[in-house]
Amino acid sequence: MLPLPLLLVFLFPFTVADPAVLQPGFYRDSCPQAETIVRDVMRTALIREPRSVASVMRFQFHDCFVNGCDASLLLDDTPTMVGEKLSLSNINSLRSFEVVDELKDALEKVCPGTVSCADIIIMAARDAVALSGGPDWEVKLGRKDSLTASQKDSDDIMPSPRANASFLINLFDKFSLSVKDLVALSGSHSIGQGRCFSIMFRLYNQSGSGKPDPALDPKYREKLDRLCPLGGDENVTGDLDATPQVFDNQYFKDLVAGRGFLNSDETLYTFPDTRAYVGIFSRDQDEFFKAFVEGMIKMGDLQSGRPGEIRYNCRVVNGRPVDILLES
Ligand code: HEM
Ligand SMILES: *[C@@H]1O[C@H](CO)[C@@H](O)[C@H](O)[C@H]1NC(C)=O
Ligand SMILES: *[C@@H]1O[C@H](CO)[C@@H](O)[C@H](O)[C@H]1NC(C)=O
Ligand SMILES: *[C@@H]1O[C@H](CO)[C@@H](O)[C@H](O)[C@H]1NC(C)=O
Repeated sequence: MLPLPLLLVFLFPFTVADPAVLQPGFYRDSCPQAETIVRDVMRTALIREPRSVASVMRFQFHDCFVNGCDASLLLDDTPTMVGEKLSLSNINSLRSFEVVDELKDALEKVCPGTVSCADIIIMAARDAVALSGGPDWEVKLGRKDSLTASQKDSDDIMPSPRANASFLINLFDKFSLSVKDLVALSGSHSIGQGRCFSIMFRLYNQSGSGKPDPALDPKYREKLDRLCPLGGDENVTGDLDATPQVFDNQYFKDLVAGRGFLNSDETLYTFPDTRAYVGIFSRDQDEFFKAFVEGMIKMGDLQSGRPGEIRYNCRVVNGRPVDILLES
């Protein structure tokens, strides 16, 4: 039997040299209140604006897929760095960054310089789900925050709402996420909203046909046509499922009924490889919850192996006086 580190090198030859060791209860000694603080701030955010917890939950996906879960997503641009906030999938779309600021401020007051922004995203995403009626689970912690971010890396990786299931299967596979993980994780769209901008092609010109997506239920399409008329304001938002504040399996029932909001949602039901999972999750909420938790943990394990730090402010890397001077 090989020692574990050596065994891991054989099993995952492409994992990078120096990943942090993630573990449950990582802050047990250094910041025992950390998880309670995050849960409390998220509860307050939910009461103030229910959608904000969905918006924060989405950060886990957009952070972890781009160079691992390292809070690169949260870095503001500087004169010398264009970060991820302006990428195609993120601009005018990601929101509620101020909730992360509140989480970080609350943690810095009690345990300065201790809890990484990358871990804050992971805890907050879990809490968003649990507070919305979904499953609750133990998260592994101990991540470091990136020293940089890249708009291009996000552009190259994050999928379009027009994507079809076979494209998404391939994409998720690159991150060792299975077809089941893909379908379960898409169930995150059980909460939150999307913009008309993300569905105009579906409503009026699917695949350049000049027609709507034939998979759309006609009643639902009429509703979306009224919400998102041609030439209208494409920043208007619609619900991603029929119960956008409750984390449940309604999303999958909606897909079965042709009432998926995004093309990338409905395609999970129209494609044979993903369709069976949509069926299972639409009938059995416990199966969905179990698969969702598994997927979130796997996605949370993604790491770049690059050097990191514990940021004091999630929007800026520590100790960069030159950039700070240039900005002011
Ligand atoms: C499978 C590929 C995915 C695609 C193509 C996709 C795409 C999108 C799009 C286009 C929106 C609406 C954005 C807008 O119109 O401004 C959205 C919203 C959202 N996404 Fe995804 N997504 C995917 C997977 C995920 C995953 C894995 C998660 C989290 C685990 C997630 C969480 C969310 C949440 C919670 C919202 C609502 C956010 C809000 O209300 O502010 N998505 N997604
Ligand atoms: C799915 O999308 C990819 C990439 O956009 C495209 O090349 C492919 O033809 C599509 N597959 C099907 C079956 O529509
Ligand atoms: C629909 O899309 C096709 C291909 O992208 C494009 O050539 C055509 O002009 C579009 N039609 C409309 C009405 O926008
Ligand atoms: C949405 O609003 C933003 C900023 O408020 C604006 O820059 C953008 O052009 C709008 N996008 C669309 C699709 O209308």
